[in-house]
Amino acid sequence: MEKFNIAIDGPAGAGKSTIARLVANTLGFVYVDTGAMYRAATWCMLQAGISPEQESEVIALVRDLDIRLVLGSDGQQVLVNGKDVTAEIRSALVNSHVSQLARIPEVRHVLTDKQKLLAVNKGVVMDGRDIGSHVLPHAEVKIFLTASARVRAERRFKETEGRPGVTVEQLEQEITTRDRMDEQRETAPLIQAADAVRLDTTHLTIPLVVERILELCRTEV
Ligand code: C5P
Repeated sequence: MEKFNIAIDGPAGAGKSTIARLVANTLGFVYVDTGAMYRAATWCMLQAGISPEQESEVIALVRDLDIRLVLGSDGQQVLVNGKDVTAEIRSALVNSHVSQLARIPEVRHVLTDKQKLLAVNKGVVMDGRDIGSHVLPHAEVKIFLTASARVRAERRFKETEGRPGVTVEQLEQEITTRDRMDEQRETAPLIQAADAVRLDTTHLTIPLVVERILELCRTEV
């Protein structure tokens, strides 16, 4: 099969990374988790003691970062300036700051350029919020993956059983707040691209969603 690009967008916890990884593995494509790049930048900002309101400091910091997504023995690892931050970028603190960093236009510009470069040779499954609308507007397959906020929170709850005292209700609040910020920002907000296929996974299993996307690849490309 010829190589092509697949863009997968959608709100927090819709299953984008699980689905994107499985689709990439099946096709022998490279999986690119753009959320991990925004998270890595946020982790560095917090480490440096900078707040998202200090925009020029945040921009200078992000311009200098060397963010790499590498395939390790336990799946995709995220390296920033050589340090493995794969676990750190999933913390509650990063969750509650990442959308504030992601609304800064110049930060998006820097990270979007890196993402475009990663997809230049095709054969990439990229997930995020603005992939079909801004980063890869010519991607051959575009998916908008969603599910009810409650189901997304329940899925996150199962994944985060290590976080003591966190309830499904708190997770639902956390993801809806983040979605609202991502939808309302001025630059490249979370949006379904006009030519994206919407898949509501509320009542669908992971294998069914993967099959649906592979079927789209067979018929559309
Ligand atoms: O996908 P994930 O939940 O890890 O993304 C974390 C955050 O990164 C999102 O809530 C959003 O603020 C930001 N993001 C973005 N554009 C992308 C990917 C992620 O703004 N393409």
